Amino acid sequence: MKIPAKKVIIIRMKNKEIKDKKHIILTGDRPTGPLHLGHYVGSLRQRVKLQHQCKQFIIIADNQALTDNAANPEKVRRNIIEVALDYLAVGINPNASTIFIQSLVPELAELTMYYLNLVTVSRLQRNPTVKDEIKQRRFSASIPAGFLCYPVSQAADITAFKADLVPVGQDQLPMVEQTVEIVRSFNRLYRANMFVEPKALLSETPRLPGTDAKTKMSKSAGNVISLNDTPDVVREKVKKMYTDPKHIHAEDPGNVKGNPVFSYLDAFDPDKQKLKAMKEHYQRGGLGDTVVKQRLLEVLLAELNPIRARREEFKKDPGYIMDILKKGSETARLVAAKTLSEARKAMGIDYFSL
Ligand code: TRP
Repeated sequence: MKIPAKKVIIIRMKNKEIKDKKHIILTGDRPTGPLHLGHYVGSLRQRVKLQHQCKQFIIIADNQALTDNAANPEKVRRNIIEVALDYLAVGINPNASTIFIQSLVPELAELTMYYLNLVTVSRLQRNPTVKDEIKQRRFSASIPAGFLCYPVSQAADITAFKADLVPVGQDQLPMVEQTVEIVRSFNRLYRANMFVEPKALLSETPRLPGTDAKTKMSKSAGNVISLNDTPDVVREKVKKMYTDPKHIHAEDPGNVKGNPVFSYLDAFDPDKQKLKAMKEHYQRGGLGDTVVKQRLLEVLLAELNPIRARREEFKKDPGYIMDILKKGSETARLVAAKTLSEARKAMGIDYFSL
């Protein structure tokens, strides 16, 4: 996938700019399944770090999930709570972050309507992530219009909160780029400067390969390790992971590049010294895949076990989760409503306050 990064300013976690300013963050996920390691290293870990120093809004994008699940609202409904459980389990703190449900903030749909007039159909068709997804879902000539337009609704999600920072994985850069374009069009057309151009915040691991190394980790490709997988399931998945196909005997020299076992170790192994030695040994020859996979399993379980334990605890109290989502959505709605009234004013369509 080619990423057109020309208009998006990308910053990394270590950037000084992050510390120096009080940022507003908006990011989130579609509730179509439990979250996985790709989400964790791409965005969740950063949210946990940033939540105390920034004002953070986290959207569970149920309307966006419906754009390719219209026949399956039950799946979306069920996964809202799964995603919320994942958030709490990884350490997102509802007192520090506002977690909310997209459809409970109807102002986002209103803003989307206004933005749709600022975007051409051909521009929508050029979005590389949407293009990939259309292929993957085999929509060919029957692309749901809502699906093609979801980047516009994502622009509404980001700007309704005046977020200036969007922590995302690599695949979401085209969405931030389209948001920047929409902000520029709106501000120019209505001679306003109420919207800020958001920047993308990429993690150290903006793209985690799937266990088959074929694509990024993605549920639809069936190559994920989920945050709620049991240790047995994780063990099985690690055992079956793709490595270097030319590394047949332990004595053979092996490739660490393009080898997802090492990509995961890069993302998760806290002992970088040991990892460096392991890589050298693997490349020299004499280190078997089973040994490397054993280390990976150890490292993954150390990270996932406490997450799963916390998840189990929260799962016992669905009322508490619903309460967080309800309160979060109320808070989010107040913020979005204020932006919408400013936007209507900027556009000169605030009819009854003239
Ligand atoms: N598109 C994101 C995903 O695939 C979800 C999302 C919706 C989002 N609105 C957003 C992400 C705004 C960042 C900012 O999971």
